[in-house]
Amino acid sequence: MKVIIINGPNLNLLGVREPGIYGSVSMDTFLSQLRESYPNDVIDYYQSNVEGELINKLQETGFSYDGIILNAGAYTHTSIALLDCIRSLQAPVIEVHISNVNDREDFRRHSMIAPACKGTIQGFGLNSYRLAIEALSLL
Ligand code: DQA
Repeated sequence: MKVIIINGPNLNLLGVREPGIYGSVSMDTFLSQLRESYPNDVIDYYQSNVEGELINKLQETGFSYDGIILNAGAYTHTSIALLDCIRSLQAPVIEVHISNVNDREDFRRHSMIAPACKGTIQGFGLNSYRLAIEALSLL
């Protein structure tokens, strides 16, 4: 499979940002481990803090990749533009969250993008991304 992990705002700070919630491992370290676990898959990675740049990357990859793993960060809860974008793509998009968003503030319980995604994986720390790759491999 050729898949891409797309991370949204503040996820460039993984390993440093609120380690009690998001852990102390950086995305770089985790990505190396993930790629070692799936040597036959191409796992590309992109991160941006900018909503429009996330949309550009989704459009760029959404017609040629086998799947997209999207952690839209806080845009999950606000972005109609991301919802519309995901609806336009051919590739299946799996919504991912590191934390269990249902066990946090109320405003995190609603996902604007969930209806357009194939499914959601959340609450397993960075292993949520690993489970998303497994999910894509079962489609
Ligand atoms: C997050 C959960 C979001 O509510 C939050 O805004 C994030 C990270 C997660 O991976 O748990 O930035 O998507």
